[in-house]
Order: sequence, then C-alpha cells, then structure tokens
Amino acid sequence: MKVLETIAEFRRIRTTLPEPLGFVPTMGYLHEGHLSLVRRARAENASVAVSIFVNPTQFSPSEDLDSYPRDMEGDLSLLKKENVDVVFAPPADEMYPPVFSSCVEVDKLTRRLEGASRPGHFTGVTTVVTKLFNIVQPTRVYFGQKDAQQAIVIKKMVADLDMNLEVVVLPTVREEDGLALSSRNSYLNHDERQAAPVLYRALMLAQGFWSQGERDAGKLRNQMAKLIGKEPLATIDYISISDNDTLEELKEIKPPALVSLAVKIGKTRLIDNVVLE
Ligand code: PAF
Repeated sequence: MKVLETIAEFRRIRTTLPEPLGFVPTMGYLHEGHLSLVRRARAENASVAVSIFVNPTQFSPSEDLDSYPRDMEGDLSLLKKENVDVVFAPPADEMYPPVFSSCVEVDKLTRRLEGASRPGHFTGVTTVVTKLFNIVQPTRVYFGQKDAQQAIVIKKMVADLDMNLEVVVLPTVREEDGLALSSRNSYLNHDERQAAPVLYRALMLAQGFWSQGERDAGKLRNQMAKLIGKEPLATIDYISISDNDTLEELKEIKPPALVSLAVKIGKTRLIDNVVLE
C-alpha cells in the first residue's frame, strides 16, 4: 500500500492503477462505517484509493477542527488489512496553498438541515470533494448514508457538473444499541455514551408510527422531540422530516421521506437519519 502526500506523486501513481478505481474520501479516525465503504470499493473495483484529510474549510471557527480525532498510524494499519492500493494523505497546504481562492457551491439543498445549522459547511465539503475527485479520477466513489444530506448534495453536484463517476451510498453502520458509528463518538464520556442512542430510539419511534399508518409529519416530529426531551444530556438542534430528494420539510409524509436529526449530547453534536420507504 502506497501512502502519498502530494498531488504530483498521486498523479504519477494514478497512471499505474488498474481501472476501474474505487475511491473512499475520509477525514480519518476510521471505524467500521468507513471500512464497510472500503470493502465495497474493494469488491467492485480493480484498484482502491482512500484519502485521509481533515478538511479545514468544512469546519466553522467555533467547531472542532483542532480537537477532531486523528490516528494516522492506526488508520494506515486498518487500510493495509483491507488491501487498499493507495492512500492520499496530504497536509493542509497541499490542498489549500496560500493563493487558493475558489470554491464549489451547491445551492438550495445546502441551505437546509446541516447547512442551516452549519453555514459554509457544505461549500467546504463540495470544494474539497471536487478537488479530491479531480486528483484521484475515480470510477466510483463511496459515501455513508449516516451523512444523508452530504450524500444527496454530492450526488447533485456530480449530476449538475457532469462529473464522470458513479456515487455509491451505503447503509449506516451501528453499535449494538443503535448508535450510528462516527469518529465524533470518541468525544463522549461514559454517561454521554449511555445517553447517545436516544437519537436512534427517536428514529425508530418515528419509523414505528409510520409503519402503523401515521402520515402527519408534525405528529412524528413532536413524538420524537418528547422522547429526546426525557434525556437530560440531550439538546435538540433540529428534527426534520423532509422529502428525500429536495429536503423540503413535509406536512404529510410521502415516501421516500428522510427523517433526520441533530442532537447535542453534552457538548458533542451527533446526527443520524432513517429513510421511510
Ligand atoms: O464525510 C466526510 O468524512 C467528509 O465530509 C469528506 C467527504 C471526507 C470531505 O471532507
């Protein structure tokens, strides 16, 4: 497995990698969720590239860029076991030299949900993902459903800008108690970890009401809020039931609908979602 830090080096190696190439972009601190993407990429492609880059432009000044968990050695050893061909792990100034002055922005979809709570976040994501796609030149790219809006925004960008690649979105990987795997789970102390599955329980509550025939999105949001309100360590940022394509909030649920939420457990902001089919 080659580990490369510069764009020039990656481009040199790229010409030697057999097609098709599967690409998994990550910010490192890898867990089973990331590895499920890597395994699928390995199964579907002749070569596999993974990037590890904690992208500063998708964090606002008040967010956790400096404390974001990092473990390059551990990540490389996991990726080696998955038979990854090449890891691209550039330093920040390789991706953003001082003269950098461009961005890629997807309108509308990015104003809702995570975009409303984290202004500028998606511009950072779509800009870095475009750069990574241009550098890596993948055939297929792999993202997790856990970041549902990110996957929807990237699919829109790929379609709008005629990027010649296939976006594959794979299911959220969960702990036994339902907590969605996330690098940020490492911030949780013991009591917060006990409290964190309340997100999943709220999603399951909504899914249960939906299965029993409830179609009033407001009622589902209220029931979810009531359940989360009982958890003293939880503070709701948003609870949303939206159209799974446009992300517009729904009054009456029509499938496929995205039930998504962002909740702070202590100081740690967690997100999760399910799709009502
Ligand atoms: O999902 C992530 O880890 C990041 O948003 C991504 C896609 C690697 C871009 O920095």
